[in-house]
Amino acid sequence: MSQDTMKVAAAKAALSYVEDGMKLGIGTGSTAEAFIHLLAEKVGEGMRVTGVPTSERSARLCVELGVPLASLDEMPRLDLAIDGADEIDPHLNLTKGGGGALLREKIVARASARFIVIADESKLVPALGAFPLPIEVNTFGIEATRHGIQDVYESLGYSGEIRLRVRDGEPFETDSGHYILDASFGHISNPKALSDALLAVPGVVEHGMFIGMTSVAIVAGDGEVRTLTAPQD
Ligand code: A5P
Repeated sequence: MSQDTMKVAAAKAALSYVEDGMKLGIGTGSTAEAFIHLLAEKVGEGMRVTGVPTSERSARLCVELGVPLASLDEMPRLDLAIDGADEIDPHLNLTKGGGGALLREKIVARASARFIVIADESKLVPALGAFPLPIEVNTFGIEATRHGIQDVYESLGYSGEIRLRVRDGEPFETDSGHYILDASFGHISNPKALSDALLAVPGVVEHGMFIGMTSVAIVAGDGEVRTLTAPQD
């Protein structure tokens, strides 16, 4: 089974959690887009849902496919959000933001009664950190913010590097007008401690670790789709 087929299988399994009348957070990325296509089919068959997209890109696809949308200001409490991930650890903590939508994704996930992540099995990791951590930062004083982030990592015993995300020769700008610094420091031994320290750096808007937010992970492998829940600890 190809990775794309697995993404579709995970997205299809997530549809069973969607009920008529739901207010739905809609994620960003290729797996979330597979979900949007399947959701649009359900809408075409008469299912009534209203989506809140986590990016302009997902919003455009929803509009194109006829999925009704509202803003988070119009619907600040959602029933369910469904999104992809770059990494999923055994506690269902995530790395997100490979597509640059982490801030809106986290706001929407937090506004949702349940947050379901959908992925192919390549996203399962023993610990977060192999994927560089996306950190969304204010554009003002970005070098100072980068130094602040570097100091945080070093004070916690990590070593590595931080790169400004670039697209087409220009800094990548998020939908909210910020930049992204991708931090490659390897295995994150204590995500909560790193999260707290990063969020204390002025200029850091948000980071891509989603800690303790995931209700269920639907993970597709070769021939099987597993539903994972976080262990109680
Ligand atoms: C978008 O900013 C990300 O958080 C995506 O959810 C993540 O990068 C997963 O994307 P894919 O589904 O394309 O792997």
